[in-house]
Amino acid sequence: MNVAIFGAGYVGLVTGAVLADMGHQVTLIEVSEEKIALIRQGISPIYETGLDSLLVRVLGTRHLQVTDHPEDIVSSSEVVFIAVGTPPLPSGEADLRYVRQAALAIGAKMTGQIRQVIVNKATVPIGSANLVEIWIQDGFREVHGSAPAEEWYTVASNPEFLREGTAIYDTLYPDRIVIGADQQWALDQLRDLYAPIVEQSFEPPLEAERPPTLQRIPLVTTDRITSEMIKYAANAFLATKISFANELANISQRVGADVMQVMHGIGLDQRIGPRFLNAGIGWGGSCLGKDLSALTVTAEEYGYHPRLLHATADVNRDQRQTVVKHLQEELKTVKGRRVALWGLSFKPGTDDLRDSPAITIIEELLRLGVRVQAYDPVAMDHLQHQRPDLDIVYAITAESALEGADALILATEWPQFADVPVTVIAEKLSRAIVIDGRNFWDPAAIAAAGLIYRGVGR
Ligand SMILES: NC(=O)c1ccc[n+]([C@@H]2O[C@H](COP(=O)([O-])OP(=O)(O)OC[C@H]3O[C@@H](n4cnc5c(N)ncnc54)[C@H](O)[C@@H]3O)[C@@H](O)[C@H]2O)c1
Repeated sequence: MNVAIFGAGYVGLVTGAVLADMGHQVTLIEVSEEKIALIRQGISPIYETGLDSLLVRVLGTRHLQVTDHPEDIVSSSEVVFIAVGTPPLPSGEADLRYVRQAALAIGAKMTGQIRQVIVNKATVPIGSANLVEIWIQDGFREVHGSAPAEEWYTVASNPEFLREGTAIYDTLYPDRIVIGADQQWALDQLRDLYAPIVEQSFEPPLEAERPPTLQRIPLVTTDRITSEMIKYAANAFLATKISFANELANISQRVGADVMQVMHGIGLDQRIGPRFLNAGIGWGGSCLGKDLSALTVTAEEYGYHPRLLHATADVNRDQRQTVVKHLQEELKTVKGRRVALWGLSFKPGTDDLRDSPAITIIEELLRLGVRVQAYDPVAMDHLQHQRPDLDIVYAITAESALEGADALILATEWPQFADVPVTVIAEKLSRAIVIDGRNFWDPAAIAAAGLIYRGVGR
């Protein structure tokens, strides 16, 4: 099938590469010349396990192409995905300007030579499929002075659930695929596109082995509004689960319980499940916060005050400050102190810094006059580039970040941090304080090395 994808970011690039590897003919349409140049050389502009080798392969077979010129690619593609960013506006609403630009471009290039499904893969507010339809018509009208014929196209919703860091795996072996469309032919077209994934009939690539027992992926087909809502509901629920664990951490800390064991104890209950119950400094990233606030805005627009969603966001905002409070309690005066901070990306396995708790913590530490010595395995260049205003020292290694520091704060649980022996941490720190924002270490092992350990809720 011919597929065009607007936006070669985390979602567009991975989706495009995976579909191309299954034999679809995919063209990525991207506005960033820098990204296009990298992708053409088989270099992924984002840090994502396995993506470089996958790119090299699909570029080699010419099943994947990338361009900044939509031109005839759009009109000859049976499926056109919109996978551009939908960042939050200061009001909490999703900024739809890139979606609008893509939809206008699609309309401008539409010819009716084939019947097309235009698919919102970006996370967009409820009702956005209707907006995209209008923008496509506007784009067409600008060129032709009239609306495109109704039977030429339809707009569908196909929300994305991949996790950064395991994006290829998640695209090949998703928990489910959700498609929302108001026309049967569009549902059928997307069903055909995803058939290799739904039926698991493709040869698993080296980059992501198939789980041994997986045979079929559930396909949820529904209307567009419900599909859009499913995406927001999923992220709101995940965010709430983490905020719940953090709420319980704060209570556990006060009464002397260990939240890790509490969550293990409840997670074994099949109605609850063990995942997304990690207490720590809270969630971040490009999705949970943005989608929670967009859903909150939508609820308010319709006259409903979503108390649970507000509380979920409030708990998360405050949770980022827990490590700073621990630092103040241990060091008393923090002004003029040196603090090592490990981990900058919002989670391990990615270089994505969007809404990263580490950055909020750095901002707070700098405000308090702390000297920050930071280290991250992959995200330091990005932070230097994106936030030149942050006056921090970037260390070359995790160990060198510790030199002469009064305390270590762990903000992102990169697995390689476990390779640094706690004895080395004890030796390099000038004071023996470890503040574990992700409950990463075994407190007993840290204490055995003579270090003071402060976790979250334990
Ligand atoms: N990143 C994730 O883990 C994830 C997961 C699920 C859903 N989503 C959603 O998917 C969407 C995309 O997210 P992302 O993380 O891939 O964003 P991103 O910022 O990594 O990528 C978006 C890309 O779109 C490009 N772009 C912007 N306007 C364009 C235009 N008019 N034409 C062509 N390209 C254009 C940008 O240059 C950028 O490369 C968002 O709505 C996001 O909420 C993201």
